[in-house]
Amino acid sequence: MAKPVSIEVWNPNGKYRVISTKPMPGTRWINLLIEQDCRVEICTEKKTILSVEDIISLIGNKCDGVIGQLTEDWGETLFAALSRAGGKAFSNMAVGYNNVDVNAANKYGVAVGNTPGVLTETTAELAASLSLAAARRIVEADEFMRAGLYDGWLPHLFVGNLLKGQTVGVIGAGRIGSAYARMMVEGFKMNLIYYDLYQSTRLEKFVTAYGEFLKSNGEQPVHWKRASSMDEVLREADVISLHPVLDKTTYHLINKESLATMKKEAILVNCSRGPVIDEVALVEHLKQNPMFRVGLDVFEDEPFMKPGLAEMKNAVIVPHIASASKWTREGMATLAALNVLVIVLLLAFFKFRYVWHLFGKRIDNISCFSSVIATVLSIATLSQSALQGKIKGYPIWGDPNRVEPFLNESVPPPAACPSIVNAKALGLPVSKL
Ligand code: GLV
Repeated sequence: MAKPVSIEVWNPNGKYRVISTKPMPGTRWINLLIEQDCRVEICTEKKTILSVEDIISLIGNKCDGVIGQLTEDWGETLFAALSRAGGKAFSNMAVGYNNVDVNAANKYGVAVGNTPGVLTETTAELAASLSLAAARRIVEADEFMRAGLYDGWLPHLFVGNLLKGQTVGVIGAGRIGSAYARMMVEGFKMNLIYYDLYQSTRLEKFVTAYGEFLKSNGEQPVHWKRASSMDEVLREADVISLHPVLDKTTYHLINKESLATMKKEAILVNCSRGPVIDEVALVEHLKQNPMFRVGLDVFEDEPFMKPGLAEMKNAVIVPHIASASKWTREGMATLAALNVLVIVLLLAFFKFRYVWHLFGKRIDNISCFSSVIATVLSIATLSQSALQGKIKGYPIWGDPNRVEPFLNESVPPPAACPSIVNAKALGLPVSKL
């Protein structure tokens, strides 16, 4: 039996029980849930990462939806517990959801939400900050100053790299990778080389137009190139930023061999997920190549670092703070809260699909007949409660890249769930924009 975990309760008489495994920034997300007749329970346990047992204890016997964090292991065990408690929605307060076993969620008919769109610029800005900090050795210089070692200007003191006119390489030119590329091209007049399975026409047009603008001003224009392989980016770029999703194909994308193809004085930045880099190989590379620098927001075994990394002066390391601006974190909380409002209708839908499956494929098996009747009855009850309940069973927002309407605090948000990653697998209705 797991130990009880401490919680703070809002709107104790709310009809739907929604849990947040962590306090989240701002209060709008709480108010939005309360307006939809939710009792909101926020875990206040003084423990950074909750265990599966802690979360099971929070879920208890009745729970309609959970807002969780990227540090939690949302797999079979938790989705089974949530499903037993009647829950049908889980939202990660993150855009990435590699901590979530979506197949397990599908099995239990649980909708899985994430929070895209709202952290694009904030994350890109941190990647740009790490690029600059590494290029100009800001952290080393800061430490030197604080240690009282500065005794006068010297020609060789903390000499770093000039970015202007160099090439920035982007691996994964999706929302965040493209925003980062634009910042580096426009801000520092860097040329761009990118690698992505999909062509980023908007990004290419942006760089072309900016290059023409510079030329018309009598300045050196900037150029872009879409690489045909990741290696091409690694070989040619001076600053490389990683923006892929983490999956089997991107695990240890950067390893001993790929590091060896990079320029000796290159800068590598990672604000995606730690396991994209083989961190042991990286530490060795940093030791062998003191002019090679790295800016890391994420780590292979978070919250730990591989031995030796903390001692490397050519590494700038920050604790997974890429999305940490006030606006973004409050927006993420809002999107995550609205995602769990999928609850009631989804439950009715899921049961309907189940019955359809039974009738279509297995009705010849008489032993499942009683289960069909029970399910039909429960659909009738659920549909009724969906109509009566204040949680509307919102449909899914049509474009998870355009979430601004949810973030405007002066008007109510659209009656839709901003982003459910398994909407298709669960056959959820999509709203018209
Ligand atoms: C942060 O890393 C996120 O995925 O939102």
